[in-house]
Amino acid sequence: MEYVCIGGSSGIGRAVVEKLASEGHTVHVASRSSKELTASPNVTHSVFDVESGEGTLPEVSSLAGFAYFPGTISLKPFPSMSCDDFSHDFALNVLGAIRPLQKYIEALKHGNGSIVLMSSVAVQMGFPYHASIAAAKGALEGLMRSLAAEYAPTVRCNCVAPSLTETPLSESLLGSEEKKASMGKRHPLARIGSVDDISHLVHYLLSENSKWVTGHVFPVDGGISSVRGAG
Ligand SMILES: NC(=O)c1ccc[n+]([C@@H]2O[C@H](COP(=O)([O-])OP(=O)(O)OC[C@H]3O[C@@H](n4cnc5c(N)ncnc54)[C@H](OP(=O)(O)O)[C@@H]3O)[C@@H](O)[C@H]2O)c1
Repeated sequence: MEYVCIGGSSGIGRAVVEKLASEGHTVHVASRSSKELTASPNVTHSVFDVESGEGTLPEVSSLAGFAYFPGTISLKPFPSMSCDDFSHDFALNVLGAIRPLQKYIEALKHGNGSIVLMSSVAVQMGFPYHASIAAAKGALEGLMRSLAAEYAPTVRCNCVAPSLTETPLSESLLGSEEKKASMGKRHPLARIGSVDDISHLVHYLLSENSKWVTGHVFPVDGGISSVRGAG
């Protein structure tokens, strides 16, 4: 089967691409560079910038799944967030997904495909300094529900909402073992996330095993959005 993963060259996306490729699927990755991408013969890479629209998106006629991984973590006190900060988070997290989704929707209809969009725990749970990313990911969740309604019963659409997960994106927040331990302690399950914690669920939602699941946001967050830890 064929899949398109926008931003599958790093972090969570890369782990999803590796899982799909190891099962023999063809995976088309599009991102600005292929630097960290797996060398599997089942994986192609196209240079494409979702913000500018520059580059080329791969051509496909039938898709089993589409996932969109580009995102931001830019945390600031609300008074120091500029409108440009909000615009940039909205552009990368939401608008960037529109052009590829419109390009691939016919192929997804043809393949009875599944769409997965990456949200964040910060939509369901309020955290200080997250106003801009929470607003953008909240919009993405609205987009997901609308597409799930518009394309049912042919195409499914869901969101995965992680808490802090160790990837290149979160490096600035997790620069030392002390920071990782301290961030981990805030979670009832007493650690931060790994790419595997998140990519297993994305993989499930892209696969036929989830063929009766659409229109939902799935937290993978060490319990932080729903459980008060004992510690
Ligand atoms: N990590 C966390 O703690 C965390 C927590 C909550 C939610 N999330 C969400 O999970 C998703 C994946 O996060 P991650 O941590 O795996 O991120 P990551 O390691 O930074 O990977 C992001 C991917 O997006 C691509 N990308 C970024 N800007 C792009 C652009 N303008 N055009 C095309 N591709 C672009 C990157 O490739 P290139 O550099 O090659 O373009 C890379 O492949 C994001 O949406 C993020 O908001 C992550």
